[in-house]
Amino acid sequence: MPGSKHKVAFGDFQTPIDLAREVCSAVARTGLRPRSILEPTCGTGSLLLAALDEFPSARAAVGLDINQQYVREARDALTGSPNRSKVRLLAANFFDTAWEKILRSLPDPLLVIGNLPWVTSAVLGSLGSRNLPTKSNFQKHRGLDAITGKSNFDISEWMMLRILDWLSGRQATLALLCKTAVARKVLAHAWRAHAPLASSATYIIPAFLHFGAAVDACLLVCAFVPGAHSSDCAVYEALASRAPASRIGLRNNQLIANIELYERWKHLEGRERRKWRSGIKHDCAQVLELTKEDSHYRNRAGEIVDIEDTYVYPMLKSSDLANGKVACPRRWMLVPQRSIGESTASIKHVAPKTWAYLTRNKALFARRASSIYEGRPPFSIFGVGEYSFSPWKVAISGFYKHLSFKVVGPFVSRPVVLDDTSYFLPCKTRHEAEYLAGLLNSETARGFYEAFVFWDSKRPVTVDLLRRLDLLALASALGRASFAARLFSDGKATQAELALN
Ligand SMILES: C[S@@+](CC[C@H](N)C(=O)[O-])C[C@H]1O[C@@H](n2cnc3c(N)ncnc32)[C@H](O)[C@@H]1O
Repeated sequence: MPGSKHKVAFGDFQTPIDLAREVCSAVARTGLRPRSILEPTCGTGSLLLAALDEFPSARAAVGLDINQQYVREARDALTGSPNRSKVRLLAANFFDTAWEKILRSLPDPLLVIGNLPWVTSAVLGSLGSRNLPTKSNFQKHRGLDAITGKSNFDISEWMMLRILDWLSGRQATLALLCKTAVARKVLAHAWRAHAPLASSATYIIPAFLHFGAAVDACLLVCAFVPGAHSSDCAVYEALASRAPASRIGLRNNQLIANIELYERWKHLEGRERRKWRSGIKHDCAQVLELTKEDSHYRNRAGEIVDIEDTYVYPMLKSSDLANGKVACPRRWMLVPQRSIGESTASIKHVAPKTWAYLTRNKALFARRASSIYEGRPPFSIFGVGEYSFSPWKVAISGFYKHLSFKVVGPFVSRPVVLDDTSYFLPCKTRHEAEYLAGLLNSETARGFYEAFVFWDSKRPVTVDLLRRLDLLALASALGRASFAARLFSDGKATQAELALN
């Protein structure tokens, strides 16, 4: 068989038999007694074989895989087994299979168990592979774009959405190994589409141990019962766990990471009036990011940069925020504009050496691919505004896996700017920043945000998350509202009020 390119295109990670047995025991603990079993991409058959052993109640089973050699191996593995006569094994493509006929042949309760291909449409595109749903099928799928994102999606996600459609109206259980992020998207889709789910659970799987894949993965189990409409999912930390660690679910049409915390703190939800901001997007970091050495700067290419200080600001990256290294920024950012679209022509007169440096590097600016720079003044940047230069900020990194808000103040009498993977509230005074950081670092605020954060996401902290917390409601909950009321109405508060709060 196939080389590694082929394996990648077919998302081919065969489930080890020990894991397959553990998966089946976890499914059996739900009390399921299926009369039939379907493994829609069965590979060499470990999940199918383990399910047949675990569920003797099953009278019929179907396994299908695109790889003929795997289907032969699955057939060989069943030779001599008392289960052999129950099973039909098919070498076929999931995307061209007449599933309706197969599904009709499988009586309820039906167990659909499997481990679908682990590959994304982007990877298939780069390999020139056609292991994809046909376009017409793909477009017919209701709301698919909304679930998968338009350009890149997991093939398993597309398959799982099809499987959800099959199971509506049936007494059935789905038990699939998949990326945790895919499980969540599929659950959100099922809940929003009012799929008849009686219960759902995820069990964390150590994917690296079993598959050598560094992804967050789980077993997703969903029980379908006509008329049911649960929109909760129990989260188990391991296949062997007997009690869930937490519950996720859909509330108010939003995906909630921790239902218990959400129920406790949902009264703090609102649309925060103060604007959370992102740091400056400076795509030309090799030119704009500098370090300072005595009398000159040095850029990321290692060149000495002799420019005026006029447009240079101390800078913190989101890693500095996460590591708490905020007092003495180690980097500097050359910021050619104070607002988006501002003319840069005056730099030539105000700071001629800076202009000469930028002009020397104009080819690098021109190379920036994004269309947002088209028709803009030379050396334009994005994510910049007066707020970028506020003297004080309460800031957090978008990438790191903990909620810790830092007070950032001026450095050598200049405002500190942040990079675009950080978020912040601009503040006029130190007291304002310290007050807000105090609110945001409280257990209450943390509990609120934890209700919404999925820590395995690429960027767990987003502006959308931050802005959900109504700071005035938070201040009231903490008994610190009087200062907040003035602060939020006109941005001012007296020292005396601060002391009171
Ligand atoms: C992650 S492996 C898992 C195999 C098996 N379910 C298991 O648990 O060991 C994914 C399987 O999907 C199969 N596959 C990939 N694309 C397919 C397609 N379009 N139709 C059917 N099977 C496919 C691969 O051959 C591979 O055996």
